[in-house]
Amino acid sequence: MNRPRRPGHTDGDRRPFRHPHPTVRLDTWEKALNSNANHQDGPSDPATGWWTRAVIYQIYPRSFADSNGDGIGDLPGITARLDHLVELGVDAVWLSPFYPSPQADAGYDVADYRDVDPLFGSLADADRLIAEAHARGLRVIVDLVPNHTSSAHEWFTAALAAAPGSPERDRYVFRDGRGPDGAQPPNDWQSVFGGPAWTRVTGPDGRPGQWYLHLFDTGQPDLNWDNPEVRAEFLDVLRFWLDRGVDGFRVDVAHGLIKQADLADWQEPQEILSGQEVDKPRPPMWDQDGVHEIYRDWRRVLDGYPGERILVAEAWVEPAERLARYVRPDEMHQAFNFEYLLAAWTAPAQYAVITRSLEATDAVDAPTTWVLSNHDVVRHASRLGLPVGGRRPNGIGIGDPQPDAALGLRRARAATLLMLALPGSAYLYQGEELGLPEHTTMPDEARQDPTWARSGHTERGRDGCRVPIPWEADAPSYGFGPTDASWLPQPPVWAEHALDRQRDVPGSTYELYRTALRLRRAYRLAEGPLEWLATGDEVLSFRNGALTVLTNFGDAAVPLPAGGELVHASAPLDEDGAVPTDVTVWVRTA
Ligand code: GLC
Ligand code: CA
Repeated sequence: MNRPRRPGHTDGDRRPFRHPHPTVRLDTWEKALNSNANHQDGPSDPATGWWTRAVIYQIYPRSFADSNGDGIGDLPGITARLDHLVELGVDAVWLSPFYPSPQADAGYDVADYRDVDPLFGSLADADRLIAEAHARGLRVIVDLVPNHTSSAHEWFTAALAAAPGSPERDRYVFRDGRGPDGAQPPNDWQSVFGGPAWTRVTGPDGRPGQWYLHLFDTGQPDLNWDNPEVRAEFLDVLRFWLDRGVDGFRVDVAHGLIKQADLADWQEPQEILSGQEVDKPRPPMWDQDGVHEIYRDWRRVLDGYPGERILVAEAWVEPAERLARYVRPDEMHQAFNFEYLLAAWTAPAQYAVITRSLEATDAVDAPTTWVLSNHDVVRHASRLGLPVGGRRPNGIGIGDPQPDAALGLRRARAATLLMLALPGSAYLYQGEELGLPEHTTMPDEARQDPTWARSGHTERGRDGCRVPIPWEADAPSYGFGPTDASWLPQPPVWAEHALDRQRDVPGSTYELYRTALRLRRAYRLAEGPLEWLATGDEVLSFRNGALTVLTNFGDAAVPLPAGGELVHASAPLDEDGAVPTDVTVWVRTA
């Protein structure tokens, strides 16, 4: 564990976000709708289910709130901060993994699917978190990691001790190597984190033995989903957490469980962040048709429980029509829309991805989802501060081209207001409501993501978006925990982004999000439909119910939509009342 000291505290600007803010008026009918009481039992209805309109907030437990001062966030820390999420106005939380794990990939290497790592607390802490969230009208989604276990899982230990061809080895993907002594990997697949996707084991006799497949780190052996025992095990894991009251599962690497049977060579490099391009053949390790049968089985389990429990696919799959197959009526409820996350900040690119996304999910009667940030990508307040159309980096560090922070935040705020006005369900990543940037100057020695080492120090990886978040500007570790300890170093800019510097400060990013979420609910924006008004090269504008939404991507200011009342804006209008560059406005026109 790495516990760097807290970086030097700077005073910063005490009013970094101050600017005039448009007046927001809520009518009585809007107020009546503006409640968090959105939590009812009932059949899982694709037209009205809670998830079809939900804003779901991703908590990365290591970095949200640390209750005991060891520098690592934990479940009691989350429970103590739940009121923040109620105040923000989200409907649900999704928790990244908190299960027992050697933490080779920050907990996405699970050693026991039915317990809590002591680092994060206990099962009793998980029960309490679920109960306290429910008491506040917040749903709870947990992360399920079915593509691979940790190499510390008892199944893998048993597989290593057993002979080739044994039932223990058959739960994973073991193969003999190629070449005279089997010294070459069974195929040429690359790990997502860099390097070969195979590692050779030493047999019980002490001699080099078979190889096992790991699409990610060596500590994450891939399971063999053709083995009925693996399938049965995960049905049971689902029930374990459903019985504890969770409202759903975010399914990690949902497109990876089934591999092409012949494990054919695939000359291409591997990247977690790039979707499969439309005109390329499908890689033998991703998006195989066999995965869908697994999710149909899971859906039947969820549907057997009271309430509306959901499955959310993390599937880096393109095109949108292919992704939509994961959310057919008898499979998952939602899939992350990574094509949207990856889209360039131009009017044509945003228009194209929004229309494609809506069409693809409409065709299977599923809600469209939207997301701009998560724990695997450069935070959007920094990503959007990089040159438009350039290479999208996997992490940013010292010596790399640095994003334009002010431009990035301005565009991020505009992008968020555009996103939250779209019909469907939206995902937020902890800290984006504070306008947090990526930590782009983190010392390389502090990095923990296996990507950095496995790529031979060419890809810095994902630590920069995983830094413990700031709550109070003047407290140790910016209020993350009771001590200075923080498992990744926090940059000095955290002071000006801390929640207590933004709460009730007009124009702050936190207040921008809060107001947007309140209005989104009041105007029923999640329900749509969306009707395009302008789809040019510089301006995107659409109607959603009583609101007209406009984003200006062009160089010149454009007029505010006529005949309406401005209810929200990502930045102040100019002196003439026009909408400046990189600004989104919400105007009430009906
Ligand atoms: C998913 C997770 C990522 C993890 C990987 C392997 O993509 O979001 O953080 O490294 O799966 O489990
Ligand atoms: Ca802790």
